[in-house]
Amino acid sequence: MDEITVTAPATVSNVVCGFDCLGFALERPRDRFTLRRIPEKVVRIINKDGFGLPVDPERNIAGVTLVAMLEDSGVDHGFEFESDKRIKPGSGIGSSAASACGAAVAANELLGRRYSQDQLIEFALAGEMLASSARHADNVAPCILGGFTLVRSTDPLDIVLLDHPDLFAAVLHPQIEVRTSEARDLLPKTISLSSAVPAWANLGAFVAGLSAGDYGLIGRSMVDEIVEPARRFLIPLFDELKRASLDSGAIGGGISGSGPSVFMLSRDRPTAERVAKEMRNLYAAGGIEFNTYISAISSEGVRIEK
Ligand code: HSE
Repeated sequence: MDEITVTAPATVSNVVCGFDCLGFALERPRDRFTLRRIPEKVVRIINKDGFGLPVDPERNIAGVTLVAMLEDSGVDHGFEFESDKRIKPGSGIGSSAASACGAAVAANELLGRRYSQDQLIEFALAGEMLASSARHADNVAPCILGGFTLVRSTDPLDIVLLDHPDLFAAVLHPQIEVRTSEARDLLPKTISLSSAVPAWANLGAFVAGLSAGDYGLIGRSMVDEIVEPARRFLIPLFDELKRASLDSGAIGGGISGSGPSVFMLSRDRPTAERVAKEMRNLYAAGGIEFNTYISAISSEGVRIEK
């Protein structure tokens, strides 16, 4: 096989109470990538989308991932990576993870499937590091594995696939860019024990709520007094979006990843549609361009198309 096309899903990370460790995959949007084997021992990037991402492989998330895989495998060829992204960079729904994971899975196919899923996550993490200068797998894990994931540890990698009841996300993506590295600079470097205890309690209760299908517990646990207060000002009308969504029946939600996207979870699709409509109504008056997505949690990560 000399060429392969894959699609990679958008992902929601943090999920309010699980900074850098919780995440889930969305059904849409998905990025589309084609990878080709080329005789020259280089990584060549072709951008078919209009996002103007760097074509220098050392400065491109997919490029860094592919260079790492070529070096590790020691093969005698290179790759041409054709990118047709639908997930806008800096959107907060895992655009960089989709590039890294799409590249890793596609390369694994052309390298004879020599790597495990954990190894692919490790390679994708090398790419993700370029975007955020931090080693966090909360987008990368669900992007590769699909579903709802908890990253218990990145060193060594230990990822837990979480059981969950039906959940539907309404996602509002304001067309403003928030760089993950800059959103991370806003965060406190240390926290007190008195803020850590409720955070641990909420994360534990959230996972218990997912496992028991207890929507009330899931909603009550989606509280974050550490990261959200430092970032919420990045998102126009954040408090109003949250209030209107909860009033429309959402069980909880907040900033998706490092923002600016906002996600709200509901127990069924009609409620998620109502929530998305409320979000659209609020933003329609504000003069900021936006997209909305409604999606179940997707059990599918990166998918091989052809
Ligand atoms: N957990 C990361 C953060 C996600 O909030 O900075 C961003 O990709």
